[in-house]
Amino acid sequence: MKNIDSISHVKGRSVYVDDIPERAGTLHAVVFHSPCAHGIIKGLDVSEALNNNGVHAILTASDIPGENQIGGVIPDEPLFADGKVEFAGQPVALVVASDEATARKARRLIKIEVEELEAVTGAREAYKKSMFLSPPGIFISGDIEKAWRECEYIFEGQCESGGQEHLYIEGQASYAYLNEDGAIRIISSTQGPTHVQKTAAAVLGLPMHRIEVDVTRLGGGFGGKEDQATPYACMAALAAMRLKKAVKIVLHRLDDMIMTGKRHPYSADYKIGLSAGLKIIAYQARLYQNGGAAADLSPAILDRSLFHSTNAYYIPNTEVTAYSCKTNLPPNTAFRGFGGPQAMFVIESAIARAAHELKTEARTIQERNFLSSKDHFQYGQKAAGASIRKCYKLAAKEFQIERLSKEVREFNSKNGLRKKGIAMMPVCFGISFTSKHMNQARALVHIYQDGSVGVSTGAVEMGQGVNTKIVQVVAKTLAVDPGLVRIETTNTTRVSNTSPTAASSGADLNGKAAQIACSRLASRLKRAAANKLGKEIRDIELSGKGIRINGKSAGISWKEAVKYAYMQRICLSEQGHYSTPGIDFNRSISKGQPFAYHVYGAAIVTVNVDCIRGTYEVERVNIVHDFGNCMNTLIDMGQVEGALMQGIGWMTMEEFSWDKNGHILSKSLSTYKVPDIYSAPGEVNCIPLPSKGPAKAILKSKAVGEPPLMYGIGVYFALQNAIISFNPSYRPDFNAPLTPEKVLMRLYSSRPGKKRS
Ligand code: MTE
Ligand code: HPA
Ligand code: MOS
Repeated sequence: MKNIDSISHVKGRSVYVDDIPERAGTLHAVVFHSPCAHGIIKGLDVSEALNNNGVHAILTASDIPGENQIGGVIPDEPLFADGKVEFAGQPVALVVASDEATARKARRLIKIEVEELEAVTGAREAYKKSMFLSPPGIFISGDIEKAWRECEYIFEGQCESGGQEHLYIEGQASYAYLNEDGAIRIISSTQGPTHVQKTAAAVLGLPMHRIEVDVTRLGGGFGGKEDQATPYACMAALAAMRLKKAVKIVLHRLDDMIMTGKRHPYSADYKIGLSAGLKIIAYQARLYQNGGAAADLSPAILDRSLFHSTNAYYIPNTEVTAYSCKTNLPPNTAFRGFGGPQAMFVIESAIARAAHELKTEARTIQERNFLSSKDHFQYGQKAAGASIRKCYKLAAKEFQIERLSKEVREFNSKNGLRKKGIAMMPVCFGISFTSKHMNQARALVHIYQDGSVGVSTGAVEMGQGVNTKIVQVVAKTLAVDPGLVRIETTNTTRVSNTSPTAASSGADLNGKAAQIACSRLASRLKRAAANKLGKEIRDIELSGKGIRINGKSAGISWKEAVKYAYMQRICLSEQGHYSTPGIDFNRSISKGQPFAYHVYGAAIVTVNVDCIRGTYEVERVNIVHDFGNCMNTLIDMGQVEGALMQGIGWMTMEEFSWDKNGHILSKSLSTYKVPDIYSAPGEVNCIPLPSKGPAKAILKSKAVGEPPLMYGIGVYFALQNAIISFNPSYRPDFNAPLTPEKVLMRLYSSRPGKKRS
């Protein structure tokens, strides 16, 4: 089934927050944000700005009727700076005017006086100063001290990965207005409608039932709107409440890039120990997460880094410690992979280093240490259904990895100024929110009298195709044509207490809830038909072609079956509630079964480096991915390609820089490079692993949103291998992104006999 949004997207008819026709008298707001990364606010003068025609109000912390607090996990983040600023871009005031241009003009007239304090931008620097957002996390398995003594080889080193801008096409956006009784309706581009509702209620000092949040769809989220859509929704709601007008905020790209948090940069120390037979016996790592100025989702992201610190390998003795460091950058936040990619880059770096020192291919070490279904993860969960070996085996066979490797070697021996590189990247990613209580969802299904079906769930459509998957689930469970099923907006008054659409679990959780509601409706319809026809309910079957009795068509359409139920006063609406069974995690000992299941896959990447310029191409990415029993190949392949591209961007070109005062320098697309069509691999081939799929996945079709991002990590190591074949004296270092500039430096770093001035 095609994505149900594809036609309206292509025709430009899909409606995003900024496309909603404005109510009469709508005001427009822009955020005045801190020009300084750290300091004490000594004065704020808005008088000149306020004097402009068309400016309705300039709101600050003192205008907040409830709490000036938006921290979700830890209450450590004010909506508007109060007394001090902790990052450049921190919201200080909201300028509300009759139109956006006026608001922007007025914003320039606001004067702020800040007594500057020292700004800390690096995680290690913060660590040295004991600046933390939350307590450290530690995962231990086996006996690491004893294990070091058994190792034949031990390698230690450092590893860095950079931040990443979400670059959703639609910037943060909210539109708020009052209902007749002073209750507030917020239309928000958020992954977490309930988070918006709850926070706006607290900020405005209202009960949650007076805030309604509605979401049609997002122009991309990628984690950047799991928490960080909230402040803009709160601001629009605050202004609407104060001014009794509709208020809209849509961030421009520049404001969005300055103000919002990104993927967390990580710095890490690793130590890896191997046996003579290249079994990884011991692995120790220290992860320094650059959290920014407030916790946001950092503690949960830190958890996922710990869970994924051994990627797809079984390592009997591990000790991984993770620190969430407080810096003067915008609070970093969820980004596809949620701390998993950062941790996986560290273990893959450790393996690449060991392979280089031992003069073997990383693949040899990787292969020997893959998880098998009898193994346990370091957090205690059994790796039941681990399919990494199967994925790799199939990839090696179908993509002829030995031949590919040989081709690369031959190419390199024949070519002086172009070198190829090859690498394999395995992925293992746990599916479930790591906070147990978040693994729940609800759906509300109405069957109308004409047989058409309206479905509301807690899932937010952000391009990933969750609505299409829910249509499929509903159509299948009710045995109706998908054309009869409409997905309604995600709305807190229809479906309450939702978890954000995140952790790749949107389709699983909300799909299961819809399935539960629909199975109940299906039984009721069968009962109605049985009553009407004087049959037993077990004789009745709902099929795509209407009612069947004892396997034979009864000439009764779906629509008639619905009518029977209605006439018998049987309820045609149902709510489904799903909570993932069998998951639990004991935080005090860091052991348990946090995940419903894991997603596996392996990618083989080849690259081609121009050794004069340092530029490169990703030639081919060959993937075997375990989709389970894939319910929508078009959508899931799209997710693989999109995530892969995003991973390649993170690993190779997307690079942030800040000056020493904590000002972002790469704040527009002229200084921050994201992959475009020219940086896409020449070929992406993805073969689904033949697989039945786990029962906890919706229709046994595994979650797909985040895991394939990590295939992009393979590109880093393929590039590194190409560099090594040009410059044998280059000692692999791990500092992503590996931009063409960095490649060039490494091609010529202490290259013997080729010293250049
Ligand atoms: N795909 C598109 N097109 N746009 C997005 O914003 N977000 C990703 C992924 N794929 C995203 C996307 C992230 S971070 C997650 S967690 C999942 O989709 C969320 O949706 P799901 O749980 O329905 O897979
Ligand atoms: N993944 C994504 N988002 C989350 C998670 C998670 O595990 N936990 C809380 N928010
Ligand atoms: Mo995705 S980072 O869990 O929104």
